[in-house]
Amino acid sequence: MPCILAIESSCDETSAAICRDGAILSNFIANQKVHEQFGGVVPELASRAHMQNIVPVVDTALKNAGVTTDQLDAIAFTQAPGLIGSLLVGGQFAKSLALSLNIPLIAVHHMQAHVLANLIDEPRPEFPFLCLTVSGGHTQIVVCESPTQLRVIGETIDDAAGEAFDKTAKLLGIPYPGGPLIDKHAQNGDPKRFHFPEPKIEGLNFSFSGLKTSILYFLQNAGKSLQYKQEQIATEAERKSFIEENLSDICASVQQRIIEILLNKVKTATLETGIRSVCIAGGVSANSSLRKALQAYGDRYGWKTYIPAFQYCTDNAGMIAITGYHKFLAGQYAELSVRSEARAEW
Ligand code: KG4
Ligand code: ZN
Repeated sequence: MPCILAIESSCDETSAAICRDGAILSNFIANQKVHEQFGGVVPELASRAHMQNIVPVVDTALKNAGVTTDQLDAIAFTQAPGLIGSLLVGGQFAKSLALSLNIPLIAVHHMQAHVLANLIDEPRPEFPFLCLTVSGGHTQIVVCESPTQLRVIGETIDDAAGEAFDKTAKLLGIPYPGGPLIDKHAQNGDPKRFHFPEPKIEGLNFSFSGLKTSILYFLQNAGKSLQYKQEQIATEAERKSFIEENLSDICASVQQRIIEILLNKVKTATLETGIRSVCIAGGVSANSSLRKALQAYGDRYGWKTYIPAFQYCTDNAGMIAITGYHKFLAGQYAELSVRSEARAEW
């Protein structure tokens, strides 16, 4: 019955969770509000906020689980990828605690953890399964053969799906992070009103930069065209009122296109691999229309579909804890000399 404390600090959420024998007993997340005024995460401010948050966050996770430090069998932490200053805070804290308690340290790859969030609650997918991982920094299709055998078979060649949401939001004057607000506005909009192009990318890779450019031109032209045309450039006032009057329809149409890009590639992946169990993971999997669309694709094409509970989609330590549990069972411990890394293949 291993009892594991997990720490996540790769970006702008400080989170700690307790997992006993594969069950998540607590998952506490402190969001950092300080970035809102800057329209994106400021790395230096994120590290400082992690330093302020880490002790109370770990304390709360232990209390909420009714667990004391002497009952812990291992400490898991996000080792990579992410903002290096943020990773270092969680990493150093995890190392110090593991050293002082004389228990093993487990280094977790953030993207593996997003995928394994699907193993937290029932119903759990059987192996092998496909996972579409869509976050602020990554867009991947992963084949998961076992909790410790994962293979990336497709990924974005430019922007991530989360960036497509956040950058669209910025163009629309919606504050960071834009994804959840686009989701909200889209609920009152018509997804068929505006037609944004689907990129023609071979194989299982994704691209979102063309979509971003067409949205930029579309807004510059106050909705007249997806192409750049000097003579159509609208005035600031025209643009503003076009966005105000059509915000819900624009959000719904952009969101619909992003979802189709994602799920059409998943469909290709199911055909190429013959795997029909499909999971989604990562911050964008919190999107209400993506969740519905996955189910609809599943019904149409005969897939079994799985979606983590909302609290395990955006960055959280619960997913680090479940990954730490499986790595513990596989004996995959880390040395105290292990280094945090901003980028890391897996
Ligand atoms: O996984 P995550 O919390 O952090 C990273 O590892 O990047 O993902 C954050 C991303 C952001 O781009 C955010 O806008 C997006 O997830 N996101 C959403 C929703 N909730 C979060 N995008 C669309 N709809 C949502 N409901
Ligand atoms: Zn993430």
